[in-house]
Amino acid sequence: EMDVFVSDLMKKMTIQEKIGQLNLITPGGGIPTGSVVSTGVEEKIKTGKVGGIFGVYGPEKNRQAQQLAVEESRLGIPMIFGSDVIHGYKTTFPLPLGLASTWDMELIEKTAQIAAKEATADGIFWNFSPMVDVSRDPRWGRISEGAGEDPYLGSEIAKAMVNGYQQGNLTATTTMMATVKHFALYGAAEAGRDYNSVDMSHLRMFNEYFPPYKAAIDAGVGCVMSSFNDVDGVPASGNKWLLTDVLRDRWGFDGFVVSDYTSVNEMIAHGLGDLQAVSALALKAGLDMDMVGEGFLTTLEKSLEEGKVTEEDINIACRRILEAKYKLGLFEDPYLYFDNARPENDILTAEHRQVARQAAASSMVLLKNENQLLPLEKSGTAALVGPLVDSRSNMLGTWAPTGDFNLAVTVLEGFKNVVGDDVNIVHAKGANISDDPEFAKKINVFGPKIFIDERSPETMLREAVSVSNKADVIIAVVGEATEMTGESSSRTDITMPPSQKKLLKELAKTGKPLVIVNMSGRPMEIVEEVEMADAFVQMWHAGVEGGNALPDVLFGDYNPSGKLTATFPVNVGQVPIYYSIRNTGRPQDGDTFQKFKSNYLDAPNSPLFPFGYGLSYTSFEFKNLSIDKATITNNDELKVSVEVTNTGNFDGEEVVQLYIRDMVASITPPLRLLKGFEKVSISKGETKTVEFTITNEDLAFYHADLSFYAEPGEFEIYVGGDSNASLASKFTLK
Ligand code: IFM
Repeated sequence: EMDVFVSDLMKKMTIQEKIGQLNLITPGGGIPTGSVVSTGVEEKIKTGKVGGIFGVYGPEKNRQAQQLAVEESRLGIPMIFGSDVIHGYKTTFPLPLGLASTWDMELIEKTAQIAAKEATADGIFWNFSPMVDVSRDPRWGRISEGAGEDPYLGSEIAKAMVNGYQQGNLTATTTMMATVKHFALYGAAEAGRDYNSVDMSHLRMFNEYFPPYKAAIDAGVGCVMSSFNDVDGVPASGNKWLLTDVLRDRWGFDGFVVSDYTSVNEMIAHGLGDLQAVSALALKAGLDMDMVGEGFLTTLEKSLEEGKVTEEDINIACRRILEAKYKLGLFEDPYLYFDNARPENDILTAEHRQVARQAAASSMVLLKNENQLLPLEKSGTAALVGPLVDSRSNMLGTWAPTGDFNLAVTVLEGFKNVVGDDVNIVHAKGANISDDPEFAKKINVFGPKIFIDERSPETMLREAVSVSNKADVIIAVVGEATEMTGESSSRTDITMPPSQKKLLKELAKTGKPLVIVNMSGRPMEIVEEVEMADAFVQMWHAGVEGGNALPDVLFGDYNPSGKLTATFPVNVGQVPIYYSIRNTGRPQDGDTFQKFKSNYLDAPNSPLFPFGYGLSYTSFEFKNLSIDKATITNNDELKVSVEVTNTGNFDGEEVVQLYIRDMVASITPPLRLLKGFEKVSISKGETKTVEFTITNEDLAFYHADLSFYAEPGEFEIYVGGDSNASLASKFTLK
């Protein structure tokens, strides 16, 4: 049916109209997500030169834009309306790295579902999310936008998000088409510098970096966005091997591929030729829609005349875009998603905010809790100190262009809401996020995030100390401004800015119990801070309800359950650092320096906090790990079970993690790989049995010829609460 419809339509289209469908524009006006915006928008729409539009919000505005296409262009083909809806639409959830730390797939799916409901209420039905780039480099600013370092967890999250956005039903008015991005390997930019070159073996691509993209495709994602970087020496946007051989021929993707913002044009700077050459290259490679750059719009006709592309190349891309519109129900009703009554009813509802609060609480990771300082008593005096205590514009986190920080609850307000009646709250800013005006200028491009106080740093410090001296406990809320992570926000130094370090040292000197809360969009180098603190909470940027969620956690209304999904290094020199390392031929024995072993003179090999790590107010004990057979064949499933007991004084949740090691293989096997996890809620004193099923696929890996199979031999499994899990068992694959 769709085939016939699209074929009939394409018969009526001129070549210019077909090329027009491949053009994606953004008129600007909102928060820019690239460095140029489209011009002559109205005229282009009316003359059939636009296939899609993004960055326009509201049913009424979008209806007007759609009318230009439907009523004034020759064939009346509706446009597709997109946006970046990365961690919530108006109800902003914790940034993606924080959401990943919940390890709660149901919750993550729910946040995506809510985002889709809100975005579609505002006339947006195509999303540039999920971002699934595996990253093992906290210098890279966009590590904040993904799920962290692990392909298995990343795949589960990719699936949950695609399901949440699309819900298997693209024509429903509350679902939106998802785009998995950035295909591919964007998270492996050399030296963590954004947009930098990537050079990686195919083994590593297929085993470690590709799985989340593939998982999104297997979940039925409608669209793929190509990345800015090169892959095997060819920028992703013009890489036929990537966009056709892997994506379509190998994985069977049948949706459309959109470029990143001007990424086709950027192939000129990459060194691949002029605009006509790179546009032809992109089309031939399998890229269907050109975001903002208009290389397709302005050169493809010429390339067709000169025989550099064929009409068939253009037809293929055009068909894919029309098919997406068909699947979204636009040919039935181009105004399907423009209902003026919806924003009021569907956006930022109390229920959505409640989910945001819950997501924020469960994304926080408790990294230290000496002498069980936390949870705090709801009594006495608490000093809230630090530049992020009362900083609304830093609550949402990076890439929330549809969010509004004015809607966010600050930490100070949250404390008043949650414990204001019982706890005497005193407050001081104590320090600027950074004292460096040049640095602040870079961060404040889209509005103030770093506020440099008129008072001198010394005055602020003195005030903070004097306020703290009156309190029973100090809660220091420090870290990064929102724009210190995200796109084009890479850092070579991932320590706490000096102004805040100084503040923390002064606070520690008071001798009062010190809780440090770190807001950041990346793993930071925080050895000293953790040392100074009695308790340490990694808060991320927790979204619109983050301010309420923090006291929920600190005062024990919510028992923390978050677990890191990206390793926290001891120092930046250890980067890239991740748990699934290979042994090398000279592995270090233990964690002290040994000559002629693989280690450092000046730092340990092990990180500050490993992947999967996170504490609870209660404690969990793992025992009786059992497997149902000692030997399996290729078709068997292995059942693994483990008993988990809550041995502490609070009800709580534990993320039970299962890792597998292939003991001998034909290519160097990682020391362990996550192959299962389950977040379980266990009351104090209770024991739960958690079961996993290991299938052949969990044991298989890609070989040099890209065949995917498991090799017979011995495997070890480890189960526990983080990637150092030590409860072990083993089995043999025959
Ligand atoms: O979706 C984004 C992408 O992640 C980075 N460049 C701009 C795109 C559209 O806003």
